[in-house]
Amino acid sequence: MTRRTENKTVNVEWGVPSIDEAVCTLCGLCADVCPSFSIRKKDGKPVVVPDGMFGCLACGHCMAVCPSGAICVTGRGLTGEDVFPLPPVAARATTAALEGLFQARRSTRHYEDKQVARATIDHLLAMSSTAPMGFPPSPVGVVVINGKERVQELAKDLTAAFKKWLFLGTPLGSVILRLMMDKPSVKMMRDFVLPVAKAIIEARAANRDLLFYNAPCVILFHYPMKDTVDPTIACSFATMAAETLGLGSCMIGTVPPALQGDRKLRLKWGVPEKNFPSIAMTLGYPSVKFRNGIRRHFKSVEYI
Ligand SMILES: Cc1cc2nc3c(=O)[nH]c(=O)nc-3n(C[C@H](O)[C@H](O)[C@H](O)COP(=O)(O)O)c2cc1C
Repeated sequence: MTRRTENKTVNVEWGVPSIDEAVCTLCGLCADVCPSFSIRKKDGKPVVVPDGMFGCLACGHCMAVCPSGAICVTGRGLTGEDVFPLPPVAARATTAALEGLFQARRSTRHYEDKQVARATIDHLLAMSSTAPMGFPPSPVGVVVINGKERVQELAKDLTAAFKKWLFLGTPLGSVILRLMMDKPSVKMMRDFVLPVAKAIIEARAANRDLLFYNAPCVILFHYPMKDTVDPTIACSFATMAAETLGLGSCMIGTVPPALQGDRKLRLKWGVPEKNFPSIAMTLGYPSVKFRNGIRRHFKSVEYI
C-alpha cells in the first residue's frame, strides 16, 4: 500500500497503518480523527483504506487517540515507538502560565558571555520539533552554530555578503533593482534592508556585532522550498522554548537573503544544496532583564 507523489514536501512513501484486531475496542475514534480518510468504519469496524484522499500522512492522530494501543503507523519517519503518554492535564501549561510566557518573551539583543550547553539546545530543539507542519514528516532542517567564535565567523561571512548588496544603493544598482523587483520590494530594499546592511557593515568595522549581538549560539532553519511558513513556526516555538529554559533569543531575518545569494556560503554553513535558508535565531543567556510587558495589537481584527 505504498505510493509515491511528486509533491516536494511529501515525496516519501505514504504511512502504513495497521490495526491489531485482538486489541481493538471498536470505538472507531481512529477513523473519526483520520484527516486523510485512510481509516474508515466499515460494518462497525475500523479498517485501513488503501485509497483514501491520497494516502496516510503518518500524522499519528489515530495512535494518539486510540484508547487501547491497537493501532500502529509506520513510515514517513514514524514508528509505534513515537507514541508516548501525555503529561497529566494538571501538569500542562494553563492559559495564565502560557500567557505569562508569551508576555515575558522579548527579542534578546544583549547576552551574557556564557556558552549554551548542547543538552539544553537539544532540549529546545525537541520542544520546537513539536511545531505543526504543512505535511508530516517535517521537511524543516536545522543547523546549530554553537560557540561565540563560530558565530562570529558566520557574522563576518555574512557581513562580506552584505557588502556586495551596497552596489544596489548606487544609481545603476537602483535601476537593476527596479527591473528585478516590484515597487514595494524596491522601497523595502531602499528604506530598510540597505540601511540595515550598511549599519551592520559599519558596526563590524568598529568591532561591534549588530547582526547576532554577540550571542553564543545561532540556529538556522532551512527548508526544501522558498516558502518560510513551516520553518518560521518551528523557530517561533523555539523562541518560546528558549524562554522556558531561561534563555533569550531573537529571530534574525537578514541571514536568509544574505546566505541565499551565495551558494558557497550556504554549503559552508550547512544548508543542503537544494534547500533554502528560511529564518535564523540567536540564542543565549540574556544580560538584560525586562521589568514590564509591552501591549501589542494586530493591525486589524474583524469578525465578519
Ligand atoms: C521574521 C522576523 C525577523 C526578524 N529579524 C530581525 C533581525 O534581523 N534583527 C533583529 O534585531 N531583530 C529581528 N527580529 C525581531 C523583531 O525586531 C522583534 O520581534 C520586534 O522588535 C518586537 O520585539 P519583541 O520580539 O521583543 O516583541 C525579527 C523578528 C521576526 C519575527
